[in-house]
Amino acid sequence: MKVLGIVGSLRQRSYNLMALRAAQRLTPPGMKITIADLSEIPLFNQDDRTHGDDPSAVELLKSQVREADAVLFACPEYNYSIPGVLKNSLDWLSLPPDAPFDGKPVAIMGASAGSLGTSRAQYHLRQVLLFMNTFTVNKPEVFIGSAHAKFDEAGELIDAPTEEFIAGLLLSLQALAKRLG
Ligand code: FNR
Repeated sequence: MKVLGIVGSLRQRSYNLMALRAAQRLTPPGMKITIADLSEIPLFNQDDRTHGDDPSAVELLKSQVREADAVLFACPEYNYSIPGVLKNSLDWLSLPPDAPFDGKPVAIMGASAGSLGTSRAQYHLRQVLLFMNTFTVNKPEVFIGSAHAKFDEAGELIDAPTEEFIAGLLLSLQALAKRLG
């Protein structure tokens, strides 16, 4: 099962990128996670949109989502919501007729230094994904709060309960993707 990881932060030492890397290590048998690069996605302008010939970084992301069996988001929280980097990328990929998230199984997690672990942003992301017609894993919810204490200097996840939550989320995503066939 091919899973595409999408992280809503361009920061090199992003906790959300670290969480996705931990997920790569915690995959159940048969699952492989590759991580997309959002750094070259331009600002969305509907005037620039020519069907089938969007900017190359957008076309690449579209094909990566289309070819993936499922998508795993690691979503930071900015001002109680989704970072613009992620929302902008989703806007590019949201419009029919070639909207690659339509019917896609997805899962969400997120990490922040605060205690609520991006829960507010994750609920906003769920709402956005509703419009995009994904099938989104409901549980477990993975809110990685106090992220500074859960990753070490090398960016490794060092918190066993968080490992369990992420592993559980991956199992739920795998089960959902299998059920949807
Ligand atoms: C933040 N941060 C933040 N944290 C939070 O829990 N709730 C919030 O609303 C916000 N708002 C916010 C706005 C902006 C503009 C920035 C730059 C940061 C802190 C944020 O969670 C923290 O910087 C994380 O480390 C960002 O995720 P990455 O880059 O580590 O993946």
